[in-house]
Amino acid sequence: MFKTLIFLQNIFASRRLAACKNVKISSLSKVESRKIHIKNNCRLEIGDGSIIEAAIFFDRDGASVKIGNRVFIGGSSLVCAESIEIGDDILISWGCTIVDHDSHAIDWQHRSQDVQKWCHGHKDWQFVKSSPIKIGNRAWLGFNVTLLKGVKIGEGAVVGACSVVTKDVPPYTVVAGNPARVIREIPPGEQ
Ligand SMILES: CC(C)(COP(=O)(O)OP(=O)(O)OC[C@H]1O[C@@H](n2cnc3c(N)ncnc32)[C@H](O)[C@@H]1OP(=O)(O)O)[C@@H](O)C(=O)NCCC(=O)NCCS
Repeated sequence: MFKTLIFLQNIFASRRLAACKNVKISSLSKVESRKIHIKNNCRLEIGDGSIIEAAIFFDRDGASVKIGNRVFIGGSSLVCAESIEIGDDILISWGCTIVDHDSHAIDWQHRSQDVQKWCHGHKDWQFVKSSPIKIGNRAWLGFNVTLLKGVKIGEGAVVGACSVVTKDVPPYTVVAGNPARVIREIPPGEQ
């Protein structure tokens, strides 16, 4: 019964997505469409052979999420106000949060009205920091990893479980911790 409900929700959601002009999802990918919360003027692309079980939230008009080929994303969350770009051949585990903005301003005066405005369907982005996130080909993010605004994950990099990434990760390095630090370089023979 529950499985049938989820199946039907996915069918309705994929029809809704197919009707959006800026959405391109390859028929060769498996996507949990009911978890995708698209807005007008936002862009979503998913390439071939990917499995996307994550929830994707488009928080701001014009936000863009691009996911390449042969990407796996488990039960994670992508939260986008600007741009999240995920390359090819990437593994992203469960419990990960990839968010390209802070949601609120540091200055209390500038976030004091946030909840009241939400109640009326408004959001003021003027004082909220945001910056695009990019994940290079062949990267692997372990479970419960968090990527904060502006982070670029280099090609073939590995991010250890439960890390909080606040700065760019160089290609073919292993990083871990909070905030994440390089713990090892991956030698050419293992790349
Ligand atoms: C806390 C926060 C708002 C600070 O943003 P900021 O002032 O732009 O901070 P910066 O990115 O300049 O980082 C400053 C330093 O703190 C560290 N840092 C920032 N956030 C961190 C975090 N969450 N965990 C560990 N270290 C963190 C950075 O590595 C950097 O370290 P350095 O001084 O050694 O270079 C932001 O990092 C954050 O956590 N944003 C997410 C907010 C959130 O949860 N929103 C969701 C909905 S409410």
